[in-house]
Amino acid sequence: MERTLIIIKPEGVQRGLIGQILARFEQRGLKFVGLKMLQMSPALAEEHYAVHKGKPFYTGLVKHITSGPVVVGVVEGRGAIKMVRTMMGATNAAEAAPGTIRGDFALEIGYNIIHGSDGPETAAREISLFFKPEELLDYRLASESWLY
Ligand code: PPS
Repeated sequence: MERTLIIIKPEGVQRGLIGQILARFEQRGLKFVGLKMLQMSPALAEEHYAVHKGKPFYTGLVKHITSGPVVVGVVEGRGAIKMVRTMMGATNAAEAAPGTIRGDFALEIGYNIIHGSDGPETAAREISLFFKPEELLDYRLASESWLY
C-alpha cells in the first residue's frame, strides 16, 4: 500500500469544495489515514515548495498557499500516488480533463484547487512535513475486503 499527501488549497476551502473533493477519494476506495485543517506558515510553505525555489511562480505560490486555511490529508491505497495525481488532472487547470478534480472545479494554474505528491520520495517527505507519525492511523475499513 502507498501513502500520498493531498492539500486542498485555500481556494478549494473558500469555495466550499472540501467535502466534494474528499468524497471523490473515498468513493474511489482510497482511505484517509490522516486529515487536518491548518493555516500554513511561510516557513512551512517554503519548505514544502523548496524544490521550486527560484522558479518564476515560486513567490506567488508560497503567498497563495499561505493566504488562508488549507486541508491536508494522507491518502492510502494500492498505487495511491499515481491514482491521486490522475484524479487531480493536469496542473494547468485550463487543460485538465473533465471528470478530474481540476477539470471539474478550476479554470487556471494559479487556482488549481489541489496539490498531490508527485512520487514516492516526495510523498514521504511531504507527509513528514505535515504529520507526526502518531497522527497517521493504521486501521482497516470494513469495505477493504470488497476493494482488494
Ligand atoms: S515544474 O516547473 O514543472 O516543476 O512545475 P510544476 O510541477 O508544473 O508545478 C509546481 C507547482 O507550482 C505550481 N505552478 C504554478 N502556480 C502558479 N502559477 C504558475 N504559473 C505555476 N506553475 C506551476 C503548480 O500548481 C505546482 O504546485 P502544486 O501545489 O503541486 O499544484
